[in-house]
Amino acid sequence: MSRIVSFINMKGGVGKTTSSVTLAETCAAEFGWRVLLLDLDAQASASYALCGSDRYEDAVRRERTLAAYFDRIADGRRPEPLSEYRTPAVAGEGADPMIDVICAEPSLRYAERALIEHYHTLRVRRGAVSKSGPEGQTRRILRESLDRVRKSYDLIVIDCPPGISIFAEAGVSCSDLIVMPTIPDYLSTLGLKELNRRFLRQLRRDGNLLGRTAILPTKVRANDKTHNRFLTELDTLVRDGVIEASFLTTMIAQDASIARALEPEHLGLAFQKKYAKARADLVEFAREVRSLLEETTNVEGERRRSDAA
Ligand SMILES: Nc1ncnc2c1ncn2[C@@H]1O[C@H](COP(=O)(O)OP(=O)(O)OP(=O)(O)O)[C@@H](O)[C@H]1O
Ligand SMILES: [Mg+2]
Repeated sequence: MSRIVSFINMKGGVGKTTSSVTLAETCAAEFGWRVLLLDLDAQASASYALCGSDRYEDAVRRERTLAAYFDRIADGRRPEPLSEYRTPAVAGEGADPMIDVICAEPSLRYAERALIEHYHTLRVRRGAVSKSGPEGQTRRILRESLDRVRKSYDLIVIDCPPGISIFAEAGVSCSDLIVMPTIPDYLSTLGLKELNRRFLRQLRRDGNLLGRTAILPTKVRANDKTHNRFLTELDTLVRDGVIEASFLTTMIAQDASIARALEPEHLGLAFQKKYAKARADLVEFAREVRSLLEETTNVEGERRRSDAA
């Protein structure tokens, strides 16, 4: 069964989408993995970056996005399986198509609200349907939906929106590994502390976070004094248990080819050509993720065992 990795941080612009897209591309190009990227962010940046505007707009027109999927559930209809909502990413030159995307779209924001209202109405109408409320129902529906497609993939990558939302909570809760991309500076470190304090700690306490959490330093400038100071500070916060996560040994450097990776001109370029010298960092990161996933117990298996007990 495939493993699930999600990217999350309170702070915007820290490289969640870039890391999601590059991890998907690296695992496909270097390990030959089949990858599914689930875009949970209404900005749909990962969907655009991997599928290009033609395929993306076609998915929106045909109502084959995650928003359309959740809208059907919110309307009380049974949607087709999630596999029917996949859009193939544009493959790199000469490479086999290895990545599929469940695209987001701006209306995903409203789909989230509609889903909450739907579960709330059901709850009121039928009495306590679920003790966990709309959050628990959304977690369950996402888990069950992914369960039906995960045998077709080696890896599922979830790109979360910045901040905390019910969708982000559901994504993190199904994940075997939760990666928190962080620029080593004041505001990103603050975002990470807040994410830990207000979100992850509570989820873990409630038994809804079984995966391992890890910090990925991003946009790192090697000779920048501020970056070096905050890398030390992050290390201390981890050691002191203020942030309950491990520190990845890989760091993603500030790099022009990574900055341009999401632009349409780079769609379909061969992996090596696209990332040039940044490729080494990306491969190191993907290898580290692979070995962490090998070490980590499968969250879904663990949940099933505890449900059965
Ligand atoms: N390693 C890097 N080197 C240079 N630029 C980068 C790097 N990683 C990300 N960027 C750039 O930083 C910006 C923000 O990145 P990205 O969109 O991945 O962040 P995000 O956390 O997903 O943002 P949001 O919170 O809006 O979803 C983009 O312009 C991206 O090209
Ligand atoms: Mg993003």
